[in-house]
Amino acid sequence: MRYRDIHELSVSNPRFFWRQKSDLIEWFRKPQEILTEDVNGLARWYEGGLLNTCHLALDRHVDGGRGEQVALFWDSPAAGERRRRTYRELRDDVARFAGALQGLGVAKGDRVVVYMPMIPEAVVAMLACARLGAVHSVVFGGFAPHELAVRIDDVQPRLLITASCGFEASRVVAYKPLVDAALAEARFPPPQVIVFARPQVAAALAPGRDLDWHELVERAEPAACVPVAATDPLYILYTAGTTGRPKGVVRDNGGHAVALRYSLKAIYNTNPGEVFWAASDVGWVVGHSYIVYGPLIHGCSTVLFEGKPVRTPDAGAYWRVIQDYGVSALLAAPTAFRAIRLDDPDAHLRRRYDISTLRSVFLTGERLDPATFEWLNLVLDVPIVDHWWQTETGWPVAANPMGLEPHTVKTGSVTLPVPGFRVAALDDAGTPVAPGKPGHLCLELPLPPGCLTGLWNDSDGFRETYLAAFPGYVRTADGGHLDEDGYVFVAGRTDDVITVAGHRLSTGGMEEILASHPAVAECAVVGIDDPLKGQVPIGLVVLRAGTAGGAAQIEADLVQLIRREIGAVAALRQVIVVARLPKTRTGTILRATIRRLAVEEQIVTPPAIEDPAIVAEIRAALREHRVGQYASQSLAADDAADL
Ligand code: COA
Ligand code: AMP
Repeated sequence: MRYRDIHELSVSNPRFFWRQKSDLIEWFRKPQEILTEDVNGLARWYEGGLLNTCHLALDRHVDGGRGEQVALFWDSPAAGERRRRTYRELRDDVARFAGALQGLGVAKGDRVVVYMPMIPEAVVAMLACARLGAVHSVVFGGFAPHELAVRIDDVQPRLLITASCGFEASRVVAYKPLVDAALAEARFPPPQVIVFARPQVAAALAPGRDLDWHELVERAEPAACVPVAATDPLYILYTAGTTGRPKGVVRDNGGHAVALRYSLKAIYNTNPGEVFWAASDVGWVVGHSYIVYGPLIHGCSTVLFEGKPVRTPDAGAYWRVIQDYGVSALLAAPTAFRAIRLDDPDAHLRRRYDISTLRSVFLTGERLDPATFEWLNLVLDVPIVDHWWQTETGWPVAANPMGLEPHTVKTGSVTLPVPGFRVAALDDAGTPVAPGKPGHLCLELPLPPGCLTGLWNDSDGFRETYLAAFPGYVRTADGGHLDEDGYVFVAGRTDDVITVAGHRLSTGGMEEILASHPAVAECAVVGIDDPLKGQVPIGLVVLRAGTAGGAAQIEADLVQLIRREIGAVAALRQVIVVARLPKTRTGTILRATIRRLAVEEQIVTPPAIEDPAIVAEIRAALREHRVGQYASQSLAADDAADL
């Protein structure tokens, strides 16, 4: 069948289509219903089905003869370590650790927070939770204690799992002091913490609360897989929204397993036994779906890389990993290749490595700028596939379906809706707009398996954020258009979310933190285009009358405040004190105007602006602080045109 027929079948008869696909996985008990609706009209997939996601990812492969195949390659250039675990070894590690968790009383439905660097034990912790039917919530290691505390209070975990340290390109991050600070701040700290001690950094254990991973595992008996309902939650993953309060996206077990298994072949064209590498972090959705669950459920070998595209040790790191592990599909963020290109524009380092196993490169998480796309096409002779998805969807919404029928690429497009998804561009009233016209990109209900089933502890927020604006659709909060062939073009977020080096962050959340500073009367944080990170946040603040201390000192303090409260990953490096902010006559801050002023030579002054003279004032402030287009003369004209 051709792509168009497959897609048509998937949306016209989803029960038939997804019943067929449910045979891709092994069930302890087959589902009684394929598709039902919850109170919100959202799809519930595979009701009545019983399964275990860890069984699908590990035990099933060991039982089926894949036990000696490598399940996980771990590579940490900064720590100078490598490890590999076969399916049998990983199954045994996970069963043992699950036994240790069980010994501590962790049971089905309990929440477990995982705050770990990119080490195999992070994967073991996630899979051990899945084995017991416990619900993991992984928190990205680049978040500061406050962000960790907010998530702890929302999920109220039975347990937290961490490690003594992780490796960044130029520093070692000691995790335990961050965890201690978060637990001191949290209102619902878990009674127990498991710490995986890495040899490079020792962690002080609090008696009665903290437990040593190694000791626990030594004493533990392996635990069996606990059958769970298809609709039971597998994990909660927090993601940035409009406010400082992150949204806990809940994913179920059954739909998730089926969708990921389907995607590995249909989209990524990968076969069991091949090596799949998602160069992301287990703290993000890409890491959940395509470092841990997807490749393992599909019987691939997955790669866990505790390194960066550059500086660990150089811009050849990705090519080296592809060569060393025989990677056939690479999934990465465009930022990674912008970084490689900046350091090695002619890709000299690529020629040092044999990367002949590579069949395709998939990019996601942010806009793929034309310059990076063209560079990749010059440097590699494999398809470069831009595809679009979100934490909420859990797997790609639009892509070039490499395993079904590769399509002609249109520059700037993420190609076509994946089977199961109906994408529409709607106007403000919820009416589909004509091809080529910009609108709100929305997903028509029902959503296919694998997508969010709700927000943890926040069903009102869920309805309001995703369902209220456009009845019958889920709002993605991305703007864009479809062309006359149905190709999807994503223009960017329509809310306060920005993507910095592929990391999703809330400018609204940053504004809340800046506003909490006693010197700040008003503020605006906007994401401006950046030649490396895609976008970076900058803050503009107006000080309260009579504030003591120099502007430069306050600016520096505010940068530190964001780093302390959100974490280094926020990458807010510039806060600028201004006399006033551009506003409409009704007082709305014109954030888009600030954004444009930072990167465009000429802008059209918005008609609703309160005082047009402010445009020149803000431009002067941005120029003085060397923001955006004023940052560096080295930003070549052709690059700037692509921003
Ligand atoms: N734990 C602790 N700190 C972390 C972290 C983690 N897991 N991840 C990032 N940080 C820190 C970094 O050390 C850095 O700290 P610094 O300000 O002290 O230098 C800060 O957060 C910003 O990190 P990052 O945005 O990654 O910038 P960088 O300068 O360290 O690296 C790139 C730049 C382009 C090399 C890097 O951003 C990169 O690899 N991007 C690809 C992103 C990606 O794969 N995203 C996955 C989404 S699919
Ligand atoms: P996250 O939830 O962290 O995966 O971030 C999702 C957001 O990243 C989306 O809402 C988009 O704004 C952006 N995004 C993801 N993939 C793409 C893409 N291929 N092109 C443009 N933006 C993308």
